[in-house]
Amino acid sequence: MLVYRRLLSYVAPHWKVLPIALVAMVVAAGSNGVVPYLMSEVVEVLESEGRGAGSLLVPLLLFVTFMVRATVDFIAVYGLGWLGRSVVRDLRAQIFERYTELPISYFEHHSSGALVSKLTYNTEQVAEAISNAVVVAIRDSLTVVVLIGAMIWFSPLLTAMVAVAAPVVAGLVAVMSRAFRRYGLRIQTSMGDATRVTEEALSGARIVKVFEGQKHQQQRFSEINEHNRRQFMKLVATRAGGDALSQYTLTIAVSAMIALAFSETLLQGLDAPVFIGFLVALGMMLTPMKRLVNINAVLQRGIAAGITLFETLDEPGEPDTGTRRLERARGDVEFRGACFTYDEAKGRVLHDVSLRVPAGSTVAIVGRSGSGKSTLVGLLPRFYDVEAGDVRLDGVDIREYRLRDLRRQLSLVSQDVLLFDDTIANNIALGALGNAPREAVEAAAEAAFVTEFAAGLPEGLDTPVGQRGMLLSGGQRQRVAIARAVLKNAPVLILDEATSALDTESERIVQRALESLMTGCTTLVIAHRLSTVENADSIVVLQEGEAVEQGTHAGLLDRGGIYSSLYRMQFAD
Ligand SMILES: Nc1ncnc2c1ncn2[C@@H]1O[C@H](COP(=O)(O)OP(=O)(O)OP(=O)(O)O)[C@@H](O)[C@H]1O
Ligand SMILES: [Mg+2]
Repeated sequence: MLVYRRLLSYVAPHWKVLPIALVAMVVAAGSNGVVPYLMSEVVEVLESEGRGAGSLLVPLLLFVTFMVRATVDFIAVYGLGWLGRSVVRDLRAQIFERYTELPISYFEHHSSGALVSKLTYNTEQVAEAISNAVVVAIRDSLTVVVLIGAMIWFSPLLTAMVAVAAPVVAGLVAVMSRAFRRYGLRIQTSMGDATRVTEEALSGARIVKVFEGQKHQQQRFSEINEHNRRQFMKLVATRAGGDALSQYTLTIAVSAMIALAFSETLLQGLDAPVFIGFLVALGMMLTPMKRLVNINAVLQRGIAAGITLFETLDEPGEPDTGTRRLERARGDVEFRGACFTYDEAKGRVLHDVSLRVPAGSTVAIVGRSGSGKSTLVGLLPRFYDVEAGDVRLDGVDIREYRLRDLRRQLSLVSQDVLLFDDTIANNIALGALGNAPREAVEAAAEAAFVTEFAAGLPEGLDTPVGQRGMLLSGGQRQRVAIARAVLKNAPVLILDEATSALDTESERIVQRALESLMTGCTTLVIAHRLSTVENADSIVVLQEGEAVEQGTHAGLLDRGGIYSSLYRMQFAD
């Protein structure tokens, strides 16, 4: 019930088309009621002696009736089509907006394929339900009511006989509704699965080819494809079966009624025009009735889609309760006893980590793979919140700042650079940086050694980078990401250095770009390069989520602890 009401709340802003469409549908239903009457008039005229009189009136009335019906049908379908598409646009906008606001953890637990399919397929089901199903539901049920009225007008007795079938049909419809909704939900899930597998296969095209994954991927897809077909067939079977059953019921009722009508004792004085009028009304009722039963499938699918869409819309966004404003931070960063757990079952990932990074200094974070380095730096932009302890910026708990203000203080160059399908310049001037002047973008490109390779491209900085930046090399993508950080010029910089082995030449260029970026910033760098580690003001060693050693390069080497062994293994060739 709540779903209906909520779906209606999307219709409400566009209510203006409703009265027009409604009037059109009432007129359409009314015109349907006129047809049996006109038909019985036709019989009347045929039977009467003087055929000339009034014989032109009936065809004229028929002509007008059908013209009117066609016109109001157009108005109703167009009006509700417009309504449906407007609702889909609004729903899609809301869902997309929600996607951009959900916390990182949400995306770790929901496949992007399923999320994409929600945005495309599920919203389409809602549109279908609103435009098609509503036209049918209103126009056809009105038509049925009008025709039943006509039948009663012609002969209450005959109507009563046919009405015996009504409860059976109603029962069928109720049972079918439930089945429609169930299968509708399953079809949605399998559409999500299909999108997910397709996305994976497409984005992993290189891996699939080299590891001969084609067969496996095809197999995975064909299972989902088959499951989808089976669920759809259940829906089709329910619909067709229900259709047949309700037709059987009606056929029995109608045949019985005609048989009774022929036995004159029962229905004395039933003349031909009345009987024809009644039969035409009954016959005309069958198509809208059938449509009403069938449209239920569409309606139920729409409702099932609405349920999952509303679930997504109701997901809580990122916690943003801080009220403190921050124009530009000095850049004093401090972790105080930070603890963090992703998943109770896997246990704590960070244990009581304390670390101070004074404004303008550089701290290198080193440690084995999986020791919690990325997790630690991810606390600062609040991708995750600490479980115990706190993280401070300029001496204030970061949760007290407004989230936007906090993030405005940070730049991030991550391990895996993702570029958007746009030009190099637009990838540098991303998001809030979008209105940066062209000279600033060019200066950033220069500082990050982007100009060096962009100059050789056909359109320079305005060359498109392709989906995910596929048209650039790994090192080039990194430099674009660095240019982005240069342009942002935030007081705090987070670097998750790439482990990817760049050749020495490129490595040196990227290194130089990074150095120019780091000057004047407070920098937290997850270091994989020896030079970065050596030049850092301080080094922190993480081991299984604990900060086990902290000091300068020389100091830690002298201590001969974990760092010195790590140094020998990892950095010293
Ligand atoms: N989103 C997540 N959900 C659950 N567990 C996670 C998630 N991300 C990381 N982990 C786990 O947390 C631990 C720390 O991971 P983290 O990514 O911080 O390591 P890291 O030190 O950055 O490693 P690397 O050097 O390989 O990048 C690992 O055991 C990892 O399996
Ligand atoms: Mg990492």
